[in-house]
Amino acid sequence: MNDVRSVPFFNYPRLWRDEEPAFLELIQEVGRRGAFIMQQDLRDFEAALAAYTGASHAFGVANATDGLEICWQALGLRQGDEVILSSHTMLATASAVVTAGGRPVPVDMGEDGLIDPAAIEAAINPRTVGIMPTQLNGRTCAMDRIMAIAQKRHLWVVEDAAQALGSRFKGRHAGTFGHAAAISFFPAKVLGCFGDAGGVICNDAALHAKMYALHDHGRDQVTGEVVCWGRNSRLDNLQAAVLNHGLKSYGKVIERRRAIARLYQARLGDLGELRLPPAPDSHPDHFDIFQNYELQADRRDELKDFLKTMGIGTLVQWGGKAVHQWERLGFTCRLPKVERFFQRCIMLPMNMFLTDDDIQYVCKNIRGFYGK
Ligand SMILES: Cc1ncc(COP(=O)(O)O)c(C=O)c1O
Repeated sequence: MNDVRSVPFFNYPRLWRDEEPAFLELIQEVGRRGAFIMQQDLRDFEAALAAYTGASHAFGVANATDGLEICWQALGLRQGDEVILSSHTMLATASAVVTAGGRPVPVDMGEDGLIDPAAIEAAINPRTVGIMPTQLNGRTCAMDRIMAIAQKRHLWVVEDAAQALGSRFKGRHAGTFGHAAAISFFPAKVLGCFGDAGGVICNDAALHAKMYALHDHGRDQVTGEVVCWGRNSRLDNLQAAVLNHGLKSYGKVIERRRAIARLYQARLGDLGELRLPPAPDSHPDHFDIFQNYELQADRRDELKDFLKTMGIGTLVQWGGKAVHQWERLGFTCRLPKVERFFQRCIMLPMNMFLTDDDIQYVCKNIRGFYGK
């Protein structure tokens, strides 16, 4: 345990290597069928995604960014319409609003890093048409509060569930509270494939039909007739086959991540220099899948550099900036909680490939850094 070992933040080659024979067989099987676009594997995955989340409708898209844009387009976002979102999210959340014709309004975060419902209420004005909460790091927002605000003010809700497949609030899956949601299957996601991929879910048949047409050249899913202008944002059938494979063991993957989070909590929970994310099972309303393990740390940059010398990969999310801090995009607001958070936040390795010894090694080095 004293030697430097390599604990990368994420190990992309292992995504393939750990199950190489199964993937080779799967690709061969799909290839021999010539099943590349809109085939059975995709239909199976769409059905499985709906069944897993409890949504009544689901379809694959090329990536979650497209999925979010399609949600807003289908709802009818118009030029100048404002959508409130957390500033602690990927820029994709905001860009989906812009490319759909609206204006993103980033607001401050709460203690748990997720969008602050009080900040949402404070930002509502006559131009506001919607809210887009990000189910960040695999934790679902307190959606009862957010939905109550939306209902009272007649606002649309699109959930950015890119990081949250399987995460639940009060037993209900992320992505099933609002009008629609998008999920990402980027390789490093808890359910990831071998490229860009995403899914859109919703509980409204008419909205599903609109969104479905938008992602496939405007073609109606049932009749094949063109019913509107659209685009091509289809999920490749081969990627859908990879996702079907991954979904079979998804429960185990989530449990392993939660076990890693428990280990981090047990080994680091006493350090006053750190502020850890909520532990699994710490709140009965939340079931978190730990897409990321993001904490706040004193002397964050020094800690990051030190861990690097010890072979440990870490990441500061979104390249170190919250949405409103990309000033060249025209934002002028100040959001003190998010800004303070971005001076201190760091993500530790969190994935299926880590052993308990890896986690012990990471924790031992963090303790050593703080002289504990
Ligand atoms: C919170 C959030 N929103 C949106 C996205 C965009 O997803 P995609 O890369 O599938 O377009 C991501 C991807 O990392 C994300 O983490």
